[in-house]
Amino acid sequence: MPDRPVDTRTDEIAATFDRRARGYRDSDWHRASAARLVDLCGLKAGNRVLDAGTGTGFAALHAARQIGDQGHVVGVDISQGMLAEARAEADAGRLTNVEFIQCDATSLAQFANSAFDVVTAATSLIYIPVEKGLREWHRLLEAGGLMAFSTMTAGFPLGGRLFRECAAEYGVLIEDPCAPLGSADACRNALAAAGFVDAEVVTEPIQFTIRDIDRAWESNLRSLAHKAVGSLPSEAFSELQQRYEAVVAAEMRAAPARMLESPMLYAFARRG
Ligand SMILES: C[S@@+](CC[C@H](N)C(=O)[O-])C[C@H]1O[C@@H](n2cnc3c(N)ncnc32)[C@H](O)[C@@H]1O
Repeated sequence: MPDRPVDTRTDEIAATFDRRARGYRDSDWHRASAARLVDLCGLKAGNRVLDAGTGTGFAALHAARQIGDQGHVVGVDISQGMLAEARAEADAGRLTNVEFIQCDATSLAQFANSAFDVVTAATSLIYIPVEKGLREWHRLLEAGGLMAFSTMTAGFPLGGRLFRECAAEYGVLIEDPCAPLGSADACRNALAAAGFVDAEVVTEPIQFTIRDIDRAWESNLRSLAHKAVGSLPSEAFSELQQRYEAVVAAEMRAAPARMLESPMLYAFARRG
C-alpha cells in the first residue's frame, strides 16, 4: 500500500501535481535541467540513487540509463499521477533498474541509514521542507555520498516573474517561490545546516523551448505558488490571461533571449 500524504499542505501539493501530471512530460526545460543535474553528478555503474520529488521521473530515468543493471534507482513522490507517468516511461524504455514509490520524501523510514550513494532532488525543493528533506537524505547517504539538487535563481524564469507582475496589476500579490533557495549562498547554507560538507554550486543557463513558452500561461496558472489568481472574478481572470499572453508575446518580440534562458543553480555536497 502506498503511504498516505502526511498533512494538508502535502495533500494539496499532491493534488496539484496529480492535475499537472498529464502533459508534464512535455515540459522540455524540466526534462533538460533534470538530465543536466544527473550528468553533473558523474554517476558510476552500480550506484544506488534516490530521486526525491521525482515527479514524472526525469532525473530517475536518466540516472537509470547511466548506472547499468547492477545499479538501482528509487524515485519517490507524493503524487500518484506524476508517478504513473514515470512508470509508463520506464516501461516504454524497458528499464528494470528503477522503481517508483509513492511516499513523502522527507520521511523515508523504510530505508536504512547509508542506503544510497547519491540523492538527487531536481527542482523539487521549492515544495519540500528544505531542512527536513536534506537531513533525511543526509541520513540515507553513505559516508562520502553525494547530495545534488537543482533550483531556479530567484526572480526567474522571466515567464513566472511576468505572471506575478500581471497578477499584481489585478491586486493579487504573490511571492517568488524560488526566492528562499534562489542564490548560491542560500544553497550552500541549506546544505551546511543539514550537515553536508564540501558544498559547490554551479550556475548555468537553462534553455526554454518554444513549446515551454507556449505552455507558460497554463503552467504558471497551475503552479501551487500562483493559486491565489484562482480567486479572481471570472472577468478579471480572463483579462489577466489576455494581459499575460500579450506581455509574453511582446517580450518574445523585443528580447527573446530573456524569455528563452534562465540561470539554474545546481548544488552539490557530500556526507562527511
Ligand atoms: C516541480 S516538480 C519536479 C519533478 C521532477 N523532479 C522534475 O525534475 O521535473 C516537484 C515534485 O515534487 C513532489 N513533491 C512535493 N513535495 C513532496 C514531498 N514532501 N515528498 C515527495 N514528493 C514531493 C511533487 O509531487 C512534484 O512531483
